[in-house]
Amino acid sequence: MESNRVEIAPALLCMTLLEFMHELKLIEHHVRRAQVDIMDGRFVPNTTVHPKDLRHIKTPVKLEMQLMVKDPTEYLSDCCRMGAWMVIFHYESYKNAKKIISFINQARTHKLKVGIAINPSTPAAKIKQFLKLVDLALVMTVKPGFGGQKFIPATLQKVRQIRRWAPHMDIEVDGGIHATTAPLAVKAGANVLVAGSEIFAARTVKEGLEHLKATFK
Ligand code: DX5
Repeated sequence: MESNRVEIAPALLCMTLLEFMHELKLIEHHVRRAQVDIMDGRFVPNTTVHPKDLRHIKTPVKLEMQLMVKDPTEYLSDCCRMGAWMVIFHYESYKNAKKIISFINQARTHKLKVGIAINPSTPAAKIKQFLKLVDLALVMTVKPGFGGQKFIPATLQKVRQIRRWAPHMDIEVDGGIHATTAPLAVKAGANVLVAGSEIFAARTVKEGLEHLKATFK
């Protein structure tokens, strides 16, 4: 994957609107897109802000909503109302072609871009049939639910597989993306890198982004 096409999306994993506004302000002059983690405490053992809490947010940043929730369809109208750019649902939320296709179609009627995500333990083959229907494939490189976890190298095989099946689609990785793991993910074929700790733990967000970008330039 040519590294000039690689984009970084900071991860906004926030429990409160205040925390969200603070982190959004820190990134919004440095990136075009960001990923908002939405967790319902059922699909993953953690709970974050809900899209309806974000309905008054105004930002130039394109927000992709990663729905780590039991029933992503329930979140579509609130994502649309808050001006989301993309919704990313988890294959594991439905594991059923009819429900998956229905979600994708409903997201399309809400004029949202759509991504499909798979957890580390889910084979890439489970989503092959849906790749032509979505705009992005997200290969989780950690078990979803928390930031600051250790990157799972075995997940890179799935990035390589999906890149072979879909040479031109956006392939995103999320979880444990740091200076050492970012170049491995890009080499495997990922072109969108989601990072939380690496960016927000840096002295400034700008420095964190530049440091990460330098690892795969
Ligand atoms: C997992 C979350 C994390 C977070 C980024 O559900 O989606 O991947 O956003 O995590 P770190 O801090 O590892 O970049």
